[in-house]
Amino acid sequence: MVTIAGVLLWFPALVAQEDNSPSRNLALTPPMGWNSWNKFACNVSEDMIKSMADAIVKSGMKDAGYEYVNIDDCWQVSRDASGNIIGDPRNFPHGMKAVGDYIHSLGLKFGLYSDAGSKTCAGRPGGLGHEYQDAIRYAAWGVDYLKYDWCNTTTQDAKASYANIRAALDGSGRAIVLSICEWGTAKPWLWGKEVGGNLWRTTGDISDKWEAKTKWPDGSCCAYGVLGILDQQVGLASYAGPGHWNDPDMLEVGNGGMTDIEYRSHFSLWAILAAPLIAGNDLRDMRPEIHDILTNKEVIAVDQDALGREGERVGKNGDLEVWAKQLKDGSRAVVLLNRGSAEQEITANWEELGYPSHLSAAVRDLWQHKDLGKFTGKFSAPVASHGIVMVIVKP
Ligand code: GLA
Repeated sequence: MVTIAGVLLWFPALVAQEDNSPSRNLALTPPMGWNSWNKFACNVSEDMIKSMADAIVKSGMKDAGYEYVNIDDCWQVSRDASGNIIGDPRNFPHGMKAVGDYIHSLGLKFGLYSDAGSKTCAGRPGGLGHEYQDAIRYAAWGVDYLKYDWCNTTTQDAKASYANIRAALDGSGRAIVLSICEWGTAKPWLWGKEVGGNLWRTTGDISDKWEAKTKWPDGSCCAYGVLGILDQQVGLASYAGPGHWNDPDMLEVGNGGMTDIEYRSHFSLWAILAAPLIAGNDLRDMRPEIHDILTNKEVIAVDQDALGREGERVGKNGDLEVWAKQLKDGSRAVVLLNRGSAEQEITANWEELGYPSHLSAAVRDLWQHKDLGKFTGKFSAPVASHGIVMVIVKP
């Protein structure tokens, strides 16, 4: 017999499952926006950020879906006698709220950066011990997105530290995206969703190179090129989904260290990975080729597909790879990737995509913006060195 006491004992457990936190519906598709670090590092200022926000609107980036304007490290200089975090008064003379207000006036969202340890990676004041105080201040400034780094954390537990800042952000009452920047060391894909992280870095920092692995000045490992980051995404797809994404780091498209072919590959692969698309170049003077990469709406639609499935590597033969992502309508986005030094033909077989080989499917090229016709069993195309061909295969 079920007693009243028994029912009451169960009741709190049922209530506790309902998520009423302000952050519960955030990042249902991978966040899109711009961040200052890859191009400007510590050289951030009110004028630069405002002009970049203007450029997001004028260039058509906003129209293509880019939303967050994120100031990375070095906006902060100190804490006052009460422990309140202070923005750099020289570079941000009207305070951080004024920057947020300007960004919001353009219909965009405002992102800031801090760190779970005592200092940020650039040596500015970190959040340790000030999490709730900072969250209240960020909310008052209108912050919509917080990237939280992992420098100077000594013996801190990563999962507990990120759970703590998520609780603090939610306690502020404002819906704030939490970007976990822990570089993959403690496997954040295993616990990032549970602690309310909306995205988590899976690797060390990206560098503006196709292929590279560079140690940090302190000897720790590493900054990677596009391929090095890509290889570290294999096996992580099942951890991603609406509200919680693997983050292979921000885009380097347009920063000058790769060819346009390589930038197109970088962007297409990030879209197949359902990665956050956070541009990191100077949007105020983009070449048309770079603009066309960042605003390719057919490729962005793959990244932003509502099913929220991360794509996977489904075929590999030496330097030739096939990556595929299931979309909400049952079709597949496919990237044929040639890592080699000469043009090669690459084939995607229907079995690799999860289709029976007798199926006839329409193929559309997302860079030529062209329907290529119907194919049965497989699709093949010549692919340039370091290039991709990206198509949708729709039965
Ligand atoms: C770390 C992060 C980078 C950037 C810098 C800022 O290296 O991984 O993305 O935020 O810190 O100092």
